[in-house]
Amino acid sequence: MSKTLLVTGGAGFIGSNYCRYVLQHHPDYRIVVLDALTYAGNLSTIADIQSSPETASRLRFYPGKIQDETVVNGIIEAERVDYIVNFAAESHNDRSILEPGSFIQTDVYGVFVLLDAVRKRGVARMLQVSTDEVYGTINEGQFTEQSPLEPNTPYSASKTGGEMQVRAQHITYGTPALVTRCGNNYGPYQYPEKLIPFFVTRLMDNRKVPLYGEGNQVRDWIYVMDHCSGIDHVLHHGVLGEAYNIGSQGERTNIEVTELLLNCLGKPASLIKRIPDPRGGAHDRRYSVNADKLTTLGWQPKHTFEEMLEETVRWYVDHQDWWREIVRKPDYQDFVHRFYGKSLGEDL
Ligand SMILES: NC(=O)c1ccc[n+]([C@@H]2O[C@H](COP(=O)([O-])OP(=O)(O)OC[C@H]3O[C@@H](n4cnc5c(N)ncnc54)[C@H](O)[C@@H]3O)[C@@H](O)[C@H]2O)c1
Repeated sequence: MSKTLLVTGGAGFIGSNYCRYVLQHHPDYRIVVLDALTYAGNLSTIADIQSSPETASRLRFYPGKIQDETVVNGIIEAERVDYIVNFAAESHNDRSILEPGSFIQTDVYGVFVLLDAVRKRGVARMLQVSTDEVYGTINEGQFTEQSPLEPNTPYSASKTGGEMQVRAQHITYGTPALVTRCGNNYGPYQYPEKLIPFFVTRLMDNRKVPLYGEGNQVRDWIYVMDHCSGIDHVLHHGVLGEAYNIGSQGERTNIEVTELLLNCLGKPASLIKRIPDPRGGAHDRRYSVNADKLTTLGWQPKHTFEEMLEETVRWYVDHQDWWREIVRKPDYQDFVHRFYGKSLGEDL
């Protein structure tokens, strides 16, 4: 049945891939993207689907912030929105250490504005895209949806705050919303400040990559399209008020990922520069989620890490126009200097 989906943050990494997923898998759906086009949002990220004759008529873009209730309510009414999937967020841990305030504005207050609009304007469902980082760190075993939420960084604390808004509004008002919690994503169109595209783009130019400490932090990697199919499954089949982990058993240490990247690109290990961990005590050692609740609901990931990492590296090699335009921007340069200037020194 035809539906209109509001994808907030749809000009970012996962949101844009989710738009591609929906356009392909739900031929009768229309998508409305609301995105503030912060440093992480770029129209070049959705240019292919905005210009393709097959998809252009099913996709509409609005610039704006999710905290702006006039904009949010106006779009919901004008476009007769059925579902909202919220990707809009300040999403980078390292930036949250430098400037935490904007994270609370978007990741907590922005979620409240969306939920309020869902309740008052009769939107059928809203899915809040959250992260496994809300659980904090785990040395052994896996987080289930029952695990306590113990966020350790300003980013993960703000995402937890957004989730708590979903929980409270569902319990208090019956607002039809639910949550997904996923591990680290990789794939096409990821802003090149995050580990995999940051390292790939630097290695391609024979520049050193900064590895925190021994690189033994463990992350639970998932290919972005598996995350998107998980979100879509929860949106359509999940129980309102519930949270669902999304994971694909992709645990790797940062040094393992770095070595695979060097290997894919044929680069020497001398390009690794070990640096002191700038996150200090806020650097979670291991994330790992148990996704049984979602697999019981009928979802399965389709991709393996090594295969899709290679394909992802190839994508960045083949799409240099996309990322070179971004890394030239003053905002990107400024962040890299502020965050890595001291530790990378002349290798910056
Ligand atoms: N990247 C990951 O590995 C990962 C893992 C789990 C969960 N998540 C969550 O998934 C979501 C998307 O992550 P991503 O990696 O695609 O992030 P991203 O930074 O690439 O994209 C975020 C998008 O949101 C937009 N945005 C930011 N503030 C906004 C605001 N106030 N109003 C409207 N738009 C705004 C940005 O312009 C950008 O297009 C986030 O909520 C993040 O917490 C990410």
